[in-house]
Amino acid sequence: MSDSSSPLFHVLDPRQFDRRRLDDLCGLTTRIRQLAKSRLGARALQTLLPHKRAMLYFTQPSTRTYLSFENACHLLGIRTTEIRDPSTSSEFKGESFEDSLRTFSSYVDVIIMRTWGEGLARHSADLMDRIRRPVPIVNAGSGQDAHPTQALLDVYTLERSFEGRGGIDGKTIGFMGDLKRGRTARSLSYLMERYRDVRLVFIAPEAFQMGRDLLDWLAGHGVHYSCTDRLHDTLDTLDAIYVTRLQKEYDTGGESDEFDHRRFSIGARELAALPEGSIVMHPLPRGPELDPRVDDDPRAMYWRQERNGMWIRVALLVKIFGVEEDLPDGQRA
Ligand code: ASP
Ligand code: CP
Repeated sequence: MSDSSSPLFHVLDPRQFDRRRLDDLCGLTTRIRQLAKSRLGARALQTLLPHKRAMLYFTQPSTRTYLSFENACHLLGIRTTEIRDPSTSSEFKGESFEDSLRTFSSYVDVIIMRTWGEGLARHSADLMDRIRRPVPIVNAGSGQDAHPTQALLDVYTLERSFEGRGGIDGKTIGFMGDLKRGRTARSLSYLMERYRDVRLVFIAPEAFQMGRDLLDWLAGHGVHYSCTDRLHDTLDTLDAIYVTRLQKEYDTGGESDEFDHRRFSIGARELAALPEGSIVMHPLPRGPELDPRVDDDPRAMYWRQERNGMWIRVALLVKIFGVEEDLPDGQRA
């Protein structure tokens, strides 16, 4: 883990972020959001990094991570190129992933990647660390293991939602759904360890419960957690519920058919049981686990999560390229 004083280069794993770095990044994100509200501020942001180029290598489907990173780059003046379908690159002719990556790095200053392969972002960073012109690798979702920038936007959303109420410290956060295969719940759970007296409740059928490795890690780091398959017994104890989708794309033999959405979904009945000041989160896209009618409830935070994702990714790029000092003062912009 790097602490907040060391420069940020690769972004691979949520555990790279200690509390100071998280607080610092959230503060910077708010500053950037405020700046971007004025024409002068937005223009100043655009002049920060017009000499940089980013590669968006997204070979696993994505809507919001892709679009928010692309727009985050554009807000800073960074030009972008993309590969979303490997059948259109020389990988189709048999070029290895490693050679392809090295080729991308010849043309750009950062590679933002979403891949099916677990650990592929880390493997890419290791390769970069061995070559003459390494560029930062940003993990925008790797297989079932990690989605660190989602966890950052989730932390930012939680902190904003609980502003004036002590932030995340002391809160009880429920995670519901396919916790076994979903990378967002995993990544956010790791970051919850950075906050004081947080309690985590993992709500899922036994076969979809959070992985033993993560539970052992939480226990080893003194985080209070419990696992249950009884959603209705927990709802009134939660400050936030983080709802997740069934990860059908990872089925190897019809596992998803075993998941009973009637017992693990949020609709009017569940909303009624949630405390008034609580929030409902979801990384999206949604499936039947989240009734669209929840959207109209002030506790629904998932559309804000999307928007926060763009701003925190702007802040992350500002950190990676070390241009925070060049940001104009928000008051004057
Ligand atoms: N969009 C998130 C991810 O890529 C959540 C999901 O797809 O269920 O991990
Ligand atoms: N939250 C998230 O990662 O969404 P996409 O899969 O649409 O990028």
